Parts: sequence; C-alpha cells; structure tokens
Amino acid sequence: MNIVMAASECAPFSKTGGLADVLASLPKALAQREHKLTVILPKHSALPSEIVSQLEHLCSFSVWVKWREQYCGLFSYETSDVTYYFIDNEYYFRRAHLYGEPDDAERYVFFTHAFFETVSRLQLDPDIIHCHDWQTGLIPLYLKANVYPYKAKTVYTIHNLKYQGIFPLSVFDELLHLDSIHLGGLELNGSLNFMKAAIVHADWVTTVSPTYANEILGPYYGEGLERYLLERINSISGIVNGIDETVYNPASDLNVSVPYFKNYAGKKENKRIMQQELDLTVSKEIPMFVLISRLVEEKGLPLLTHILEELLITEDIQLVIMGTGETQFEETFQHIAQRFQDSCRFINVFHEGLAHRLYAASDFFLMPSRFEPCGLGQLIALRYESIPIVRETGGLKDTIKPYNEFNGEGNGFSFTNYNANDFLNTIRYAIHLYYQPTHWNRILKNVYKSKLNWDHSASLYEEVYERLLMQLNEEENYVHDHRPIKSVTQRETHLIIR
Ligand code: GLC
Repeated sequence: MNIVMAASECAPFSKTGGLADVLASLPKALAQREHKLTVILPKHSALPSEIVSQLEHLCSFSVWVKWREQYCGLFSYETSDVTYYFIDNEYYFRRAHLYGEPDDAERYVFFTHAFFETVSRLQLDPDIIHCHDWQTGLIPLYLKANVYPYKAKTVYTIHNLKYQGIFPLSVFDELLHLDSIHLGGLELNGSLNFMKAAIVHADWVTTVSPTYANEILGPYYGEGLERYLLERINSISGIVNGIDETVYNPASDLNVSVPYFKNYAGKKENKRIMQQELDLTVSKEIPMFVLISRLVEEKGLPLLTHILEELLITEDIQLVIMGTGETQFEETFQHIAQRFQDSCRFINVFHEGLAHRLYAASDFFLMPSRFEPCGLGQLIALRYESIPIVRETGGLKDTIKPYNEFNGEGNGFSFTNYNANDFLNTIRYAIHLYYQPTHWNRILKNVYKSKLNWDHSASLYEEVYERLLMQLNEEENYVHDHRPIKSVTQRETHLIIR
C-alpha cells in the first residue's frame, strides 16, 4: 500500500512529546512490511543542523491561504525506507515553539494546504492518508469536502484528546477554503475545533490503546467530544504504540554506562554509577525509583506530591525525578529534594541521554497518570528492566499487568482509583516484593518477556488500511457497475483489542 502520513512532529527532527516517537518508529515498521511510506512534516526551526545539512531541496511553489500567497519550499530526506518531506516557510515555522503561538490556526492551515500541494505536485497518489492529532485534523475534512479530488481513504489517530486545536469562528472565513455548508462539521461550542473535524470526517479513527478508545466514549475522558466519538463507534479502534527496540536497547545504548540485557548484575552496576554521580548512598539494596515526565497535572503528579513526604520519611528508598513543566510541581520537587538530601534528587531539565541512564539505573518507574492515551515511558522502562508502577488507565492498563503473587503473572504494579493512598500502598507492596527474591525474579522474567516492538501493532494498522481499501474498491465498483453493494461501514465492526 501507498501510505502518506501527515504530522506536526517527528523525532529526531522535532519533538515535544510521544507523538514524535511514534512518527519516528511506526512508519519504519510499516515500511519493513513492504509498504511505501511517506511522511510530510513542517520544517520547524528545531531541526538539528546535522540533519538540515543532509536535506535535499526539491522545489518551491506558492501556497494560497485564502487571499495570501505564501512561499513553500519542499525538502526531502530518506532513512530506513521512509521518505520524509519537509514543508518550509520560515514565517510560519521558524518559531520558538512548535505550538502555542498566537497564529497557530494560520500556521497549520498553511501546513494543510502545503500538504495537499505536495501530494499533487509530487504525484504521490496515496491509497491511505494517515493524519495525527489536531494539527492535521483539517485534512480529512478537505478530502470529504472535495477541496482536493483524491480518492485516498483517511485514517486519523488521536494521540491525546485533550489538545484539540480550538480557534475563533472567524478563522473559517479568514483562512479556510471551504463552503459554509462545512462549518457544522468543524464547529463546537461556538469555536472551530480541528480535532472534531477529523473525528467527524476521517474514514477511520484510531487512538493509541484499546482502553483509551473505550474511555473516551464517556464524559470523564471524552473532553467534550464523546458524542462525536460515539457516532463513530463502528469505525474507531485502539492500537497500542510500540517502541523502536533498536533505539531503546540497554545492550547497545551508548548513553548507558554499562551495557546489559536480561542481566540483573549489569543493571545494578548502572545503579551504582548513578548513585555516585548523584551523590546518593551507594547501595545495591536500596530500591531506586524514578519519575521521568513532563511535569503536568494529567501525569498524576498531585498524587505524588501528596504522598512524597510520607514516602520518603517512612521508606528506605531513593527517588529521582526528572522533567520540566508547571511551576507548582517544579517548586514542590525542589523543596522536597532540598529537605531529603539523602534520598531525593530533582533534575529540572529534560536530557535524553541522562533519561536513558536513569531508566537503566532504576529499579522502579513511577507513572500514576490521571489519563494516559498510551504512554511510552512505561514501555521504555520495561525495555530497561525497570519495573513500572502505574495507574490503570489508557495504555498503562493495556501494557502493564499487575504482579499476582499467587500465580506469578504480571510485569509491574498498578492501582485502579485516582487516589494518593492507593498509590502509596502500591509502592509499599512493590517494595515488599522487591526484597523477596522468588517474587522479584518472577517479575523480572515477566518483564523480559514483555512485547514492546511494533510488530503486532503495525499489523493492526495494516488491517485498518486494508479494510478501508476494500471499501474504496467496492465504491469504485459501485460507480463502475451502477449496482448497489453493501458497504464495509454497514458491516459489524468492533474495537480492535490487542
Ligand atoms: C501523547 C499521549 C501519550 C502517547 C503519545 C504517543 O503524548 O499523551 O500517552 O503515548 O501521545 O501516542
């Protein structure tokens, strides 16, 4: 199949979150399954200079954003059988931030138009156009509205429903090339909502875990879009993300002090080096916990701040927190780290290499999210043999099975309710088992067996694409034969459970 993806970020070119990691690895996994993969991205100023110097300038042309004629340069880059095209316009993309700029609507409307121009000029002729998150949410709408006459089917993946791309209604007339008949599919509560546009118009909607796909159908997780998601119940699926095991590999990761793989002694060596580096007591025994995260409320940090003092006073542990984010959390963690100098460190930056070393050094990885579409931290932790302690929500629930000491199953620890005491009790239970070699070895064995790569999930995306192509063929036959057929959307479909 010929698959063209559209997204706003992709590692190592630009990254604010997990979306970039998915774009760095899913296309590669699909290309390995013999599909033709193209990814179209904005050329953000964040692009590392060593990559910029390798880009090939293909052409430049004009893109119209209503009455504004804008320059668009097109660059290409190829790696792992995936072709990346970068949309260049310094006015729109040479910015300090990828999002959160006052003219975000115009920037990503421009990107949408430039995306279609690129597809036509390069005659990419896709079977499937796969869009990710609100920044590309207009693409399915433009196709349904016939602004661009492609027959391709669209897949839209929600990585986080909370960020919807909400803009004033005036943007419709000022920037969009759409007839007013299409306003309804884009409008929500008196604003334009790019996420809604995609949910309503994509041929298939996916999100990044089966549990999150179910959760967002109700008001608690639905972020006001549950009604529109429910309308798509027959064409929505949850597919868990994988990680690129060649990038995250404790046996060959150059960041890791002592390479190891399924080897507890090697891991302990990394812990010793990290303890020395952070000026913590050097001890194999004391369990080391890490939390590596954007410091925002939805990651469940209020639960942690609530129990932090009690945890550090009552338990003999070491805790390292790494990340940046909301001031309230940064200040609390700074204060706690100062107070508990023997046992707690707060690293108030995000540093990729150091993050890898913390995964490698730690015994436990904390992720008590309030909601979590998929979560990659827990998968990376499993790969580095650090035991996740998570809240049972979204992808955390689908990837971490709580250890059951009676049947010996489970690759981590989890709690159900968003409750600080439950979190604390789960941590205490985990510490209790950490000191029992029979259980600890069982948990480690289960962790070693966890399936983390893209193999299975890429095949589920393939199934979605194939189903849509069947539908496309049936529609074409219909036009050709003028005889009625039963469309795939009328058939019974269901959430794909991993
Ligand atoms: C978003 C979600 C996260 C998910 C990632 C990649 O960042 O918050 O849970 O893993 O996207 O899909």
